Amino acid sequence: MKIKGFTEGFGGEITDLDLAEEGTLETAQAVQDVMDHYGVAVIRDQRITDQQQIAFSRLFGQLEFSPHFGRGDKDLVRMKFPELFDVSNLDEHDNILPDTDRRRVYRAANLMWHADSTFQPHGAGYSLLSARIVPASGADTQFADMRAAYDALSASMRERIEGMVVEHSTFYSRSLVGYQFTEEELKRRTATRQFLVQTHPRSGRRSLMVGSHASHVVGLPVEEGRALLKELGEFATQERFVYTHKWKVGDLLLWDNRCTMHRATPFDDTAERRDLRRTTVVGDLPLVPA
Ligand code: OGA
Ligand code: MN
Repeated sequence: MKIKGFTEGFGGEITDLDLAEEGTLETAQAVQDVMDHYGVAVIRDQRITDQQQIAFSRLFGQLEFSPHFGRGDKDLVRMKFPELFDVSNLDEHDNILPDTDRRRVYRAANLMWHADSTFQPHGAGYSLLSARIVPASGADTQFADMRAAYDALSASMRERIEGMVVEHSTFYSRSLVGYQFTEEELKRRTATRQFLVQTHPRSGRRSLMVGSHASHVVGLPVEEGRALLKELGEFATQERFVYTHKWKVGDLLLWDNRCTMHRATPFDDTAERRDLRRTTVVGDLPLVPA
């Protein structure tokens, strides 16, 4: 396995590794060391099956189940395993989703900066995204280094936000893209609280946790808290903190949701196909005391 940094501290590339042959615990631990430093890394040229992706991902911890699984959703036709999140623009017949399909709006939410599952009590650890079909142009995924962004804040801002608690909810983020919730979905409506400043359990580095699911700051007037979250989000996603991933088929991209944010970028999604599949490790964010 060879490692090369795209930048000094954020974004790395792993080559000379074949997960179909070497998807062992030792490999996972070596990859985790790379992640501690780079936050996001790509393993190139992996022609792995869904089962191999799931098996390798499990070595990093317990996996999340896709909320679609077991609910009779049509998405089940493409994804045969509950651990797989369908990150494509395809329907159950592998056709490009029509303009009117509500799943298109759901996926449009990925265009906003976010970390995965910050609306879950413990957030998410690593996400692993496998590229099966990529469009000829566009559809890059961008990453922001929330550790470097935190380090670059003014001392007075760091002092101001220390100990602040933020409410995160997928209902908030989806409402931002005009998603129409079903009655069923509204019944499952929940929110969770996360610290605005996180400390990484492995590297000990501090980072900002904001993004599209972050609705408001607990204890501040909603608009004041939103303005602060917006300011921090814009600060953290300046070009100097961002790595842009250009996909190749066979890329297995990993990122650490505890200290990075990401977003999809647009492409001609009514004409071109994109098929990526994500596995997500359940996180270990500290619970916020009530
Ligand atoms: C994701 C995600 C971005 C993209 O899979 O969690 O946000 O570019 N993907 O598809
Ligand atoms: Mn995501």
